[in-house]
Amino acid sequence: TYVVTENCIKCKYTDCVEVCPVDCFHEGPNFLAIDPDECIDCTLCEPECPAEAIYSEDDLPKEMEHFLELNAELSQNWPVITEAKDPPADAEEWDGKPDKLQHLER
Ligand code: SF4
Ligand code: F3S
Repeated sequence: TYVVTENCIKCKYTDCVEVCPVDCFHEGPNFLAIDPDECIDCTLCEPECPAEAIYSEDDLPKEMEHFLELNAELSQNWPVITEAKDPPADAEEWDGKPDKLQHLER
Protein backbone atom coordinates (compact mmCIF):
# COMPACT_ATOMS: atom_id res chain seq x y z
CA THR A 1 0.00 0.00 0.00
CA TYR A 2 0.92 3.66 -0.27
CA VAL A 3 0.94 5.87 2.79
CA VAL A 4 0.26 9.57 3.39
CA THR A 5 2.76 10.96 5.90
CA GLU A 6 3.27 13.93 8.20
CA ASN A 7 4.03 16.64 5.67
CA CYS A 8 0.48 16.41 4.31
CA ILE A 9 -0.84 17.81 7.59
CA LYS A 10 -2.00 21.42 7.08
CA CYS A 11 -0.77 21.35 3.44
CA LYS A 12 -3.44 19.04 2.00
CA TYR A 13 -2.85 19.97 -1.62
CA THR A 14 -5.22 17.18 -2.85
CA ASP A 15 -3.46 16.73 -6.23
CA CYS A 16 -3.09 13.08 -5.21
CA VAL A 17 -6.81 12.28 -5.32
CA GLU A 18 -7.20 13.15 -9.00
CA VAL A 19 -4.96 10.32 -10.19
CA CYS A 20 -6.06 7.46 -7.96
CA PRO A 21 -7.87 4.90 -10.14
CA VAL A 22 -9.57 3.19 -7.20
CA ASP A 23 -10.63 6.16 -5.03
CA CYS A 24 -8.73 5.19 -1.92
CA PHE A 25 -8.15 8.67 -0.50
CA HIS A 26 -10.23 9.72 2.49
CA GLU A 27 -10.45 13.31 3.67
CA GLY A 28 -10.13 14.63 7.19
CA PRO A 29 -10.07 18.27 8.36
CA ASN A 30 -6.38 18.85 7.56
CA PHE A 31 -4.96 15.52 6.32
CA LEU A 32 -5.73 12.76 3.84
CA ALA A 33 -5.45 9.03 4.47
CA ILE A 34 -5.16 6.10 2.06
CA ASP A 35 -7.27 3.00 2.68
CA PRO A 36 -4.71 0.17 2.60
CA ASP A 37 -7.40 -2.35 1.67
CA GLU A 38 -8.24 -0.40 -1.50
CA CYS A 39 -4.81 0.75 -2.70
CA ILE A 40 -3.55 -1.30 -5.66
CA ASP A 41 0.02 0.10 -5.57
CA CYS A 42 -0.35 1.78 -8.95
CA THR A 43 2.30 4.37 -7.89
CA LEU A 44 0.51 7.28 -9.60
CA CYS A 45 -0.14 9.42 -6.53
CA GLU A 46 3.40 9.56 -5.18
CA PRO A 47 4.89 12.00 -7.74
CA GLU A 48 1.73 14.16 -7.72
CA CYS A 49 2.13 15.38 -4.15
CA PRO A 50 3.81 18.83 -4.06
CA ALA A 51 4.65 18.21 -0.39
CA GLU A 52 6.26 14.84 -1.16
CA ALA A 53 4.19 13.30 1.60
CA ILE A 54 3.30 10.01 -0.11
CA TYR A 55 5.48 6.91 0.20
CA SER A 56 5.24 3.29 -0.74
CA GLU A 57 5.00 1.18 2.38
CA ASP A 58 8.23 -0.48 1.19
CA ASP A 59 10.14 2.84 1.13
CA LEU A 60 8.61 4.31 4.26
CA PRO A 61 11.36 5.85 6.41
CA LYS A 62 11.62 4.29 9.86
CA GLU A 63 10.56 7.49 11.65
CA MET A 64 7.34 7.54 9.61
CA GLU A 65 6.29 3.95 10.23
CA HIS A 66 3.46 4.95 12.57
CA PHE A 67 1.70 6.56 9.60
CA LEU A 68 0.94 3.11 8.20
CA GLU A 69 -1.38 2.37 11.11
CA LEU A 70 -2.70 5.93 11.13
CA ASN A 71 -3.76 5.77 7.44
CA ALA A 72 -5.53 2.46 8.09
CA GLU A 73 -7.37 3.88 11.09
CA LEU A 74 -8.30 7.33 9.78
CA SER A 75 -9.39 6.12 6.32
CA GLN A 76 -12.10 4.06 8.03
CA ASN A 77 -13.56 7.18 9.68
CA TRP A 78 -13.33 9.72 6.90
CA PRO A 79 -15.31 10.13 3.61
CA VAL A 80 -13.77 9.40 0.21
CA ILE A 81 -12.41 12.39 -1.76
CA THR A 82 -11.99 12.11 -5.55
CA GLU A 83 -11.79 15.72 -6.73
CA ALA A 84 -9.01 18.17 -5.93
CA LYS A 85 -9.89 21.31 -4.02
CA ASP A 86 -8.01 24.48 -3.10
CA PRO A 87 -5.39 23.87 -0.42
CA PRO A 88 -5.51 25.87 2.83
CA ALA A 89 -4.41 29.50 2.30
CA ASP A 90 -1.34 28.94 4.49
CA ALA A 91 -0.38 25.58 2.97
CA GLU A 92 2.96 26.84 1.67
CA GLU A 93 3.94 28.13 5.10
CA TRP A 94 3.41 24.69 6.59
CA ASP A 95 5.21 22.77 3.86
CA GLY A 96 8.28 21.18 5.41
CA LYS A 97 7.59 22.27 9.00
CA PRO A 98 8.69 19.63 11.54
CA ASP A 99 6.47 17.98 14.17
CA LYS A 100 3.15 18.57 12.49
CA LEU A 101 1.52 15.46 13.94
CA GLN A 102 0.42 17.49 16.97
CA HIS A 103 -1.75 19.55 14.60
CA LEU A 104 -3.60 16.58 13.10
CA GLU A 105 -7.34 17.06 13.43
CA ARG A 106 -9.52 13.97 13.47
FE1 SF4 B 1 -4.38 5.21 -5.29
FE2 SF4 B 1 -2.42 4.22 -6.75
FE3 SF4 B 1 -1.86 5.95 -4.82
FE4 SF4 B 1 -2.67 3.50 -4.18
S1 SF4 B 1 -0.75 4.02 -5.23
S2 SF4 B 1 -3.40 5.42 -3.28
S3 SF4 B 1 -4.09 3.04 -5.86
S4 SF4 B 1 -3.03 6.36 -6.67
FE1 F3S C 1 -1.64 15.63 1.10
FE2 F3S C 1 0.02 15.69 -0.89
FE3 F3S C 1 -2.33 14.70 -1.28
S1 F3S C 1 -0.23 17.25 0.63
S2 F3S C 1 -3.60 15.89 0.11
S3 F3S C 1 -0.80 13.88 0.09
S4 F3S C 1 -1.21 15.97 -2.70
